[in-house]
Amino acid sequence: MSLSTRDRLTIGELAARSGNATSALRYYEELGLIQSERTAGGQRRYRRATLRWLAFVRAAQRIGLSLGEVRDALAHLPVDHVPSAADWSRVARTWQHRIDEQIAELQQVRDQLTGCVGCGCLSLTRCGLYNPEDTAARRGSGARYLLGDEPLAR
Ligand code: FES
Repeated sequence: MSLSTRDRLTIGELAARSGNATSALRYYEELGLIQSERTAGGQRRYRRATLRWLAFVRAAQRIGLSLGEVRDALAHLPVDHVPSAADWSRVARTWQHRIDEQIAELQQVRDQLTGCVGCGCLSLTRCGLYNPEDTAARRGSGARYLLGDEPLAR
């Protein structure tokens, strides 16, 4: 099915309308988050519905999903028709668990930071902020002690 000119957006138009840089759009396309068609001259043209995909990507990033997770979520959308409201709703429901996890992590960080601001001891054995010589890196990425790991005994 061919698209009318009105239904197609140039990369500049999509960038302006979505609030993304053209470089970000090219990167998202490279990752498979959005798709374009090419004109005879090789220029990208995007369906207007791509704006929904980009709004979804932005919302997902705001709740802390990685672009890989976003791609996995988008893979659940139908490819044979423009996704309906029910399709989008079904995909968004898969985030519920992730949002709950994010809230729990933030509450934990808030509680620990509040405690440390009042405490100020920077204890070697129990403080979530003190991390001499980045020993927490052995546990993985991120603020390990604030995420619940116990500080390593020294
Ligand atoms: S400053 Fe005392 S526990 Fe973090």
